[in-house]
Amino acid sequence: MKMVRDILGDVRVLPVVVIDDVADAVPLARSLLDGGLPVIEVTLRTAAALEAIAAIGKEVAGCIVGAGSITDPHGADQARRAGAQFGVSPGTTRELREFLQADSWPFLPGAATISEVLELRDAGFSQQKLFPAEILGGADYLKAIGGPVPDVTFCPTGGIVHETMTDYLRLANVFAIGGSWIAPRELIRRKSWPEITARAASV
Ligand code: 3PG
Repeated sequence: MKMVRDILGDVRVLPVVVIDDVADAVPLARSLLDGGLPVIEVTLRTAAALEAIAAIGKEVAGCIVGAGSITDPHGADQARRAGAQFGVSPGTTRELREFLQADSWPFLPGAATISEVLELRDAGFSQQKLFPAEILGGADYLKAIGGPVPDVTFCPTGGIVHETMTDYLRLANVFAIGGSWIAPRELIRRKSWPEITARAASV
């Protein structure tokens, strides 16, 4: 099964975006690509999200688009049909986990506690999202998990900003980080593409 880490390749920072207007999807993806970030997580939090995923997938060569904020099998199915190349969830119900286990779609299931991490690992998910990372204890919390559970690696998200990203990226059990600070919703609404490119280039 292809893992999300294989999709990311050398990419270690994943912009998490909320798109309100589908017309913003392509210029946003291009501005992130121009800044050196070719992988985007479009959250399923707006009516435009699925169309945005489809538009980026079709129109922005070189960009890999995934879907985030997936909370149930229906959302996973919709995102995959829209062309998302991978999926991400903030947490993982048994229903979602079983749906994903029966499937080969690359997916980062979300966990917050060590028990959730272990349950997902035992279900076959050795790469997970840790959310909400900063509130849970940040890089120190991840480091603590790495002691007893060295066989799971993470993409933490939630509250990470430019100033804290290297605290996470230097950990052995972190393969990438995600966050909205690179392309915040307000900058997307204002179509601040050069600013978003500059933020992407600075990571
Ligand atoms: C997510 O879905 O991963 C988060 O909303 C990203 O968190 P952030 O907005 O705090 O960066």
